[in-house]
Amino acid sequence: MTLSTTGTGARIAAPRTTVPFTPSSPLTAPTPNSTGRVTFPDGFVWGTATAAYQVEGAASEDGRADSIWDVFARIPGAVVNGDDGAVACDHYHRFREDVALMRELNLDAYRFSTSWARIMPDGRTLNPAGLDFYSRLVDELLAADVLPWLTLYHWDLPQALEDRGGWPERDTAYRFADYATAVHDALGDRVKVWTTLNEPWCSAFLGYTSGAHAPGRKSPELGLAAAHHLMLGHGLAVEALRERDPEASLGLTLNFTVSDPVDPTNPADVDAARRDDGMFNRIFLDPILRGAYPQDILDDVAHLGLTDHVRPGDLEIISTPIDVLGVNYYNGGAVAATPQSDGTPEGTAGPDGAREPATSGPVWETLSPNPVPDGVHPHSRGLPTTDMGWEVQPEGLTRLLTRIQRDYTGPRGTALFVTENGAAYPDVVEADGSVDDQDRLDFVDRHLRAVRDAIDAGVDVRGYFAWSLMDNFEWALGYSKRFGITRVDYETQERTVKASGRWYADVAGDNAVPARNE
Ligand code: FCB
Repeated sequence: MTLSTTGTGARIAAPRTTVPFTPSSPLTAPTPNSTGRVTFPDGFVWGTATAAYQVEGAASEDGRADSIWDVFARIPGAVVNGDDGAVACDHYHRFREDVALMRELNLDAYRFSTSWARIMPDGRTLNPAGLDFYSRLVDELLAADVLPWLTLYHWDLPQALEDRGGWPERDTAYRFADYATAVHDALGDRVKVWTTLNEPWCSAFLGYTSGAHAPGRKSPELGLAAAHHLMLGHGLAVEALRERDPEASLGLTLNFTVSDPVDPTNPADVDAARRDDGMFNRIFLDPILRGAYPQDILDDVAHLGLTDHVRPGDLEIISTPIDVLGVNYYNGGAVAATPQSDGTPEGTAGPDGAREPATSGPVWETLSPNPVPDGVHPHSRGLPTTDMGWEVQPEGLTRLLTRIQRDYTGPRGTALFVTENGAAYPDVVEADGSVDDQDRLDFVDRHLRAVRDAIDAGVDVRGYFAWSLMDNFEWALGYSKRFGITRVDYETQERTVKASGRWYADVAGDNAVPARNE
């Protein structure tokens, strides 16, 4: 299929003014889309997403070297059960079967990532055998009429570059642009949608501030330096790819929260929400789409050296116009200036709050991912939660998409795609091998209705990618959490489409969500 990604057709330069935080309130009234059949605009893209380290396996084949995740997974206690991605879903060998599965699921698009450590094992020298895997994958996808949606970086930095300082070093941004160019030289004739980074918040702040993710370093200063250099790498790569192919659709994927003050009438809670929103959303949105860091965030982190890394011209590069913004949404969070007093454990309510492994073996200590965490306390709202402990909050997606378009992408003609949304639940395998995951089906159903609500409000959302095509290596939580609409039996590598996957195939085939069975 071809993809329409140019909004107004114009690539408009950033305005260089930032947008202050304004709290909004949860949407409580049911909308007309809440229960009946809901259709989507013609050409709406239905996809699923995965990431290289989470599915490929083949960790030391055809010249691939360690990424930071291979090394991190060897730290005792860092990953639940000592799991790693050495085999994962063996997608490297089974991609043909997996592409056939995508067809069975009526998918228009497959969002996957390329492994830098497979393509450039030392971070700089091309390994043709590694690159060739992606060429075979892309050919297979095109032959199946599935659009390849390529992400260049989904968290797996070559360890060789981490050994030279990793993302806190400015040079890594230039290495990334070289890598992007090399991949484009090989696949640019067939791949027309390129996103640079997946969720730089996680790479920077889980990787370098909390230490919950690879490479497991723990410093507020390093996280901020990494964030700036990730964005610089993004901008440099967009510039280079744009020059090579002016027609390609270029962009990146960010992950978002929706920060609600616990008590909207309490200025201290509103300020906690402002800070949470700033460190999660605006620290990326404003430089990339408005060409400047938010002043309130610069003030909050003034002692942490962020501006020492910002050189003249960086923000122009970072705000190079993009065609697509990928929105990853799992949930928002309520935050207050003081801890929750009812004994509910903190840190599980907000997005990514429960990403640390809780094992009985060696303990890998982590810090808050927020470089300035004092006085920002997530509170549980008593909403239902998934197996990650994340609150199920579909209306947050409607508010998020509406806000992003109003304040960021709308004025620049950038199209929005939901590039990840989905849920982990403890699946039960029936005697006949089937998985009747009504909880996951219900989660996706409600979020698709929330997307339709945003479209009805005038938001330019062009597609939705379910996370994930199949169960896979869930980072520090190893194989203990299952997000797939297809089950993977890790002993046999057998794939079984779950009830949610069969339902999603009908949705993709009909371009509509059927009426809910209440
Ligand atoms: C996102 C990641 C993805 C997966 C989901 C559950 O933050 O991009 O790889 O782990 O969360």
